[in-house]
Amino acid sequence: MVLEHLTLKNFRNYRECSLNFGTGINFLYGDNGNGKTNLLEAISLLSYTRSFLNNLDSDCIYQGESYFEACGIYNNESGLRSKVLCRFSVSGKEFIHNNDKVNRFSTFLGEYPLVVFSPRDIKMTMGVPSERRKNFDMLIAQTSSVYLNDLRNYSRIIKQKNSLLRENKFTPRYQTAELRKMIEIWNGELAETAVKIIIRRLDFIETFRKILDSSFRKLINKNIEPIIRYECEYIGDDSVQVSPGEIKATIIETLRKKMEREISRGISLSGPHRDNYIFEMKKDDIIFDVKGFASQGEHKTFIIALKLSEYDYIRTNIMHTFKGNPILLLDDIFSELDDGRTEKICESMSDYGQVFITSPRYRYLDVLKEIFKGEISVFKVAGGTVKHV
Ligand SMILES: Nc1ncnc2c1ncn2[C@@H]1O[C@H](COP(=O)(O)OP(=O)(O)O)[C@@H](O)[C@H]1O
Ligand SMILES: [Mg+2]
Repeated sequence: MVLEHLTLKNFRNYRECSLNFGTGINFLYGDNGNGKTNLLEAISLLSYTRSFLNNLDSDCIYQGESYFEACGIYNNESGLRSKVLCRFSVSGKEFIHNNDKVNRFSTFLGEYPLVVFSPRDIKMTMGVPSERRKNFDMLIAQTSSVYLNDLRNYSRIIKQKNSLLRENKFTPRYQTAELRKMIEIWNGELAETAVKIIIRRLDFIETFRKILDSSFRKLINKNIEPIIRYECEYIGDDSVQVSPGEIKATIIETLRKKMEREISRGISLSGPHRDNYIFEMKKDDIIFDVKGFASQGEHKTFIIALKLSEYDYIRTNIMHTFKGNPILLLDDIFSELDDGRTEKICESMSDYGQVFITSPRYRYLDVLKEIFKGEISVFKVAGGTVKHV
């Protein structure tokens, strides 16, 4: 997919902006605080229906105004053009896809596949499990509406089960036996959906592990091996085959064991909403946890390798569609990296479709030009205006 044209109205520090992008690398440079990230945020909004920074839509309105608009014209690489328009005001957010109103945002996700690297992704390796879970859920969801649907169902079930447990804790209304029966009904539904989610995550991790390995090779010469593990209460080693029936039985059994604790705590204590992904690196035969032991540069390299792997994961999954390549957004990717790694990234750029790279430093353009032989479009971003140079 190629974003050919973008127009913004009252989006962040852009009053009005109309831009044509190149099909290769789009290099956006400018001093800090001028609107580079804001531009990528608008592009992510058009693909994800929300900002990759997880910001409130209302924050994106130019201060003092009452609405924003972002509109993208895409080319699916086989020449078919399409249009996505997002409008937000106090009365809500609206998406128009080729002149049709999008009624359910979940059916739209994945139409314009996109991967973003942002300095804030440091929370992927440093942060709590939910950051990693959310990230990979979003990734899998971009390639599978079935998975997205399962997630939505699951989250509805957990909400309802939690509200029953919470209500009961503060104002007990049911006999113990009656309460147990009600929880058991929720647990049955929970197990049903949880199995589907877990099976999908197991399938994902198996594919993703191989991709991550090769992304790492592209970035690092040294003998460092990435390790990624999926941690779920109901399964042991994530590479050992388990049948859906076995997983479901374990879930039911675990939920039964935890029921009393759940009742006394007033919250559900088990389920794939507590799953985790663990990142480790094997260096000179020693395995260490990325979160606790990696240097700042290693964190960043690990995350870049993750993001490039996400790209390959999506690409593999959409190969049989007409969507072409995903769009890649790299926000301030070069800062803090040594020259060797910067060059490796530049070398790998020929493997991707349309790419947006931001940097406060113009000199990275020279490095890029030296290594990358494809098309580079250059934009100067200053004070909410963007100039093609
Ligand atoms: N809703 C908004 N209205 C007006 N300006 C905004 C809004 N949100 C952010 N900004 C401005 O955008 C600038 C940050 O832009 P950003 O894209 O993050 O910069 P950078 O070029 O460093 O990536 C800040 O100076 C901020 O004041
Ligand atoms: Mg920025």
